[in-house]
Amino acid sequence: MKLLVVGHTGMLGSDMLLAARNAGHEASGIDYPDIDITRQESIRACLGEIRPDAVINCAAFTAVDACETEVRRAFSVNAEGAGFLSLAAKEVGSIFVHYSTDYVFDGNATVPYGESDPTGPRTVYGRSKLEGERLAGANNDRTFIIRIAWLYGTTGTHFVKTIRELAKKYETTDSHIRVVNDQIGSPTCTLDVCSQTLTLLETGRFGLYHGTSEGQCSWYDFAGEIVRAAGFKTIVDPCTTAEFPRPAPRPAWSVLENAALKRLGLNRMPHWKEAFSAFLEREVQSPL
Ligand SMILES: NC(=O)c1ccc[n+]([C@@H]2O[C@H](COP(=O)([O-])OP(=O)(O)OC[C@H]3O[C@@H](n4cnc5c(N)ncnc54)[C@H](OP(=O)(O)O)[C@@H]3O)[C@@H](O)[C@H]2O)c1
Repeated sequence: MKLLVVGHTGMLGSDMLLAARNAGHEASGIDYPDIDITRQESIRACLGEIRPDAVINCAAFTAVDACETEVRRAFSVNAEGAGFLSLAAKEVGSIFVHYSTDYVFDGNATVPYGESDPTGPRTVYGRSKLEGERLAGANNDRTFIIRIAWLYGTTGTHFVKTIRELAKKYETTDSHIRVVNDQIGSPTCTLDVCSQTLTLLETGRFGLYHGTSEGQCSWYDFAGEIVRAAGFKTIVDPCTTAEFPRPAPRPAWSVLENAALKRLGLNRMPHWKEAFSAFLEREVQSPL
């Protein structure tokens, strides 16, 4: 297929472009400022020229805390921008793939959220992403919306990178790393999201999907795994979310059930521990 990855220099977008090419697709990428998804003329010029079979939208305003004050920008990029891209994709006959987030839920559940569970975002980021889902779906009936969470990948700034840097910095000091143990989710590797997306893309089964790794843990549990795997002796201590107030409240429960993928027999998402091992193995084989 001829694929266009929008936001291809971001964490997910960069791995998506590589994965698409490795899977034999004719894939190209574009990002800000060469495209501005908040401007319809910018999108139309780009899609009209490339005319891809599918547009994979990895562009977003992802700074969750900054969204609380930059509300206009959050809705402009995450909601209207998603809607504009979806519409422009339809105009050139393209499938649209869009990513959303666990932040569309209130985070108060105690069992994994399914696709049809009621949403209730508690942050500007979550509200803007939910509106983006609505507009993307409404503007193009050949749309896949994939909700993901707790992402790490081969590029960008993410939890694995941050914990490794802290572990290295503190290893020869008395400092411990403190990580919350009352937020539960499923660490998910971009590489798995990419291959799951490419699998789904071939099916034509458009709609809303959850696409996170299987299993669950706290950020504290995950930090322990990261430090151990990196071979540092740095100690990780548990703490509570209340000890680290943030402008945007973090969901206590981010676990998503890949119910729609499972119903179709298409769930390829591995357990988070298996995925993390594979990620580490890949780093050894092809260090950045
Ligand atoms: N990271 C996570 O843990 C996570 C969790 C759940 C869902 N998601 C979703 O997954 C998707 C990818 O996230 P990510 O972490 O890969 O994001 P990311 O690394 O922040 O990348 C986003 C990309 O979008 C670009 N962008 C921002 N505004 C734009 C605009 N107006 N026009 C064109 N491009 C624009 C950014 O460019 P600049 O750098 O120049 O701004 C950046 O290259 C997003 O939809 C996000 O909501 C992520």
